[in-house]
Amino acid sequence: MTASSPDDTMSVRGALSPDELLTTTRSVRWRLDLTRSVPEELIDECIGIAVQAPSAQNAQNWHWIVVTDADLRRSIGGYYRQAYYTYLEEEVRQRIASGHETAGAPHQDAAERRQVHSSRYLADHMGEVPVLVVAAIDIGTPVLPDANQAGIWGSLLPAAWSYALAARARGLGTTWTMLHLRHEREIAELLRLPDTVFQGVLLPTAYYLGDTFRRAPRKPLSAVVHRNGW
Ligand SMILES: Cc1cc2nc3c(=O)[nH]c(=O)nc-3n(C[C@H](O)[C@H](O)[C@H](O)COP(=O)(O)O)c2cc1C
Repeated sequence: MTASSPDDTMSVRGALSPDELLTTTRSVRWRLDLTRSVPEELIDECIGIAVQAPSAQNAQNWHWIVVTDADLRRSIGGYYRQAYYTYLEEEVRQRIASGHETAGAPHQDAAERRQVHSSRYLADHMGEVPVLVVAAIDIGTPVLPDANQAGIWGSLLPAAWSYALAARARGLGTTWTMLHLRHEREIAELLRLPDTVFQGVLLPTAYYLGDTFRRAPRKPLSAVVHRNGW
């Protein structure tokens, strides 16, 4: 592992402004280059940037499990694929039950179809992505509290997003994924995680193909901004 320092910026690709970086870091799935290996130092560089994020009481209880071993990736990929197809079936069943669509005739707009297409591609290829990074946090006890968990996840997820941004700045694509958590225990065993360590996100990481990432359509601010109250 290389030492982490804010000066580790040698591999930054050049001219993305902060706003460009923040508005074009998309979920990369079918444009992940599965054939090109990623140097370990580049991943360390991204993690070195990530750990500049805040954490409650500056505890820095995050842990980064960098999975490059082919067998481990294949096993995690298998769990991910299983979780994805179960999720897909549940979704369809729910949409049919709610009258949103009829069996065998999915009602999806073009954007939804693209999303399903690319999510399925990732599910089918997760185990082939050259690097799988699991961001996890050690909460010091084997049970997550029932009460507000904002302090726990707030001490991990900003750093994980910084990792994704640092990766994008270096020509690496990622997708924020969570479906593997349906097999959280099995994956924890595979990765030999202590029972006080909880996984927050799985970030498949690879060089991306092409560089035409754009700002995404989002809900208008009027739907989500509340001034001086709801
Ligand atoms: C909490 C969370 C969980 C997600 N889980 C998955 C996942 O398991 N698999 C996946 O392909 N994408 C997953 N995504 C990615 C979203 O589908 C994606 O961010 C969203 O469609 C917007 O697309 P964009 O990131 O390209 O803007 C997740 C995103 C978040 C924030």
